[in-house]
Amino acid sequence: NGTPPTGFSSEGFQNLQQAGPDGSGSESTVSITVVGASGDLAKKKIFPALFALYYEGCLPKHFTVFGYARSKMTDAELRDMVSLTLTCRIDQRENCSVKMEEFLKRCFYHAGQYDSEAHFADLDKKLKQHEGSRISNRLYYLSIPPNIFLDVVKCASLAASSGNGWTRVIVEKPFGRDAESSAALTRGLKQYLHEDQIFRIDHYLGKELVENLSVLRFSNLVFEPLWSRQYIRNVQIIFSEDFGTEGRGGYFDHYGIIRDIMQNHLLQIMALFAMETPTSLEAEDIRNEKVKVLRSMKPLQADDVVIGQYKSHTRGGVMYPGYTDDKTVPSNSLTPTFAAAALFINNARWDGVPFLMKAGKALHTKRAEIRVQFRHVPGNLYKGCFGTDLDRATNELVIRVQPDEAIYLKINNKIPGLGMRLDRSNLNLHYAARYSKEIPDAYERLLLDAIEGERRLFIRSDELDAAWGLFTPLLKELEERHIAPELYPYGSRGPVGAHYLAAKYNVRWG
Ligand code: NDP
Ligand code: BG6
Repeated sequence: NGTPPTGFSSEGFQNLQQAGPDGSGSESTVSITVVGASGDLAKKKIFPALFALYYEGCLPKHFTVFGYARSKMTDAELRDMVSLTLTCRIDQRENCSVKMEEFLKRCFYHAGQYDSEAHFADLDKKLKQHEGSRISNRLYYLSIPPNIFLDVVKCASLAASSGNGWTRVIVEKPFGRDAESSAALTRGLKQYLHEDQIFRIDHYLGKELVENLSVLRFSNLVFEPLWSRQYIRNVQIIFSEDFGTEGRGGYFDHYGIIRDIMQNHLLQIMALFAMETPTSLEAEDIRNEKVKVLRSMKPLQADDVVIGQYKSHTRGGVMYPGYTDDKTVPSNSLTPTFAAAALFINNARWDGVPFLMKAGKALHTKRAEIRVQFRHVPGNLYKGCFGTDLDRATNELVIRVQPDEAIYLKINNKIPGLGMRLDRSNLNLHYAARYSKEIPDAYERLLLDAIEGERRLFIRSDELDAAWGLFTPLLKELEERHIAPELYPYGSRGPVGAHYLAAKYNVRWG
């Protein structure tokens, strides 16, 4: 409603270097505070991504990184902790220990409570010492459980926001558990922040092949004309992990796989995949198109969803524990660790095309991919030349997001020789073979974007509302009716129900 929130100022400086009043060019500085620095995500992803950006020369000249959490730690202890997870992955051959030392010298720690303005005021003092007379830009990364997001935003905004530059906040998922709690979180954040200061992260949007989706579609004449119900039979968006919720059972049991993976990562991929051509590559133009897709989706029916939960399984003499064997998970938990769903977009482009999503933990393989199955060739002249499996006659485009990034198109081809026999071969763009440079981690791209004020890969509040609008009724129904997940053995292909769901729409999972 245009009412300025209390606290953080978003005014001012988008650029990292600003001209001073005398025109001499007063420099700016970026202070990055990782809130929850003692935690898993900070160690595993955020500090390593910041180091990689530093190593690549992508961070501004003047920056500092502060860890903030309740655990008592000195600067030296933080550096020791962080150094264990920094890697020289960009160029294994180069000795990057010098760079690592330089980076670690820029890392500091401040212990404090998450709901204490006084503790954030102490942090503010330390930040100011480093910022000096420069324009101060501040980035807070909330790498903490969601129930304390608002405490932190309030205290940081009142006691430690920038006085003369920008202040931005990266918020980690989960953004609520349903439409109501998500809206309440957004309302809470907006008491202290403008929407353009909130960077809701979905790290799948920072993955190279997800970012490439629009390039593939909109810069290649051959794909876009085929990108509709006229030629596409179904689209599959698949996420699978070959390990369970190990160590995160407590968190996971409160959310489940639909909230953990489908409502955000897979739905975002789907929106990017299905959106109309944006007016430009500007963040708002892209997000406008994505939100239209989300709002055009047919309400999700419970009978278009299959849920599962992994159970223990012994293989090769090794016992793999079931989900409820985790001590932090109630033994009677009905939380799904697997889900498959059939979704539909009610618009002219996609009417009737099933978008099948599948997400699961403790499956037989680790992969994330998009599979586009095209329609049969009408009046296929070569039908008899494939052997018995007619399905082989259709084209399939596979975008393998991870691991071993690749884009390949399955085409029908004549097997060389005197006869006329066809098989299906791949036109294969294998990233490791084509590009020698290592692909940056999603967190690197997203952190850099947040520092640069680029919002394209972050989730806007209306997108979030639409995403929850789609999944909340289903989640409520599953929970109210106590629908029991189908059990599947650890390391298997998941519940057979997923195959029946696909078969209902004449689809075979890729
Ligand atoms: P952690 O559980 O490791 O928590 C981070 C830090 O927050 C802890 O070190 C602890 O610091 C503090 N903390 C933990 N529980 C509480 C509590 N109940 N009350 C107050 N403070 C608490 O979380 P992660 O690092 O795993 O994740 C951080 C955020 O990122 C979460 O929102 C998570 O959902 C999200 N996320 C995590 C992923 C991962 O792979 N770990 C992946 C994607 C998203 P201290 O005690 O020192 O204050
Ligand atoms: C997170 C989920 O968002 O994504 C985790 O909370 C999941 O459960 C992770 O393991 C997967 O991310 P990636 O990048 O390893 O595929």
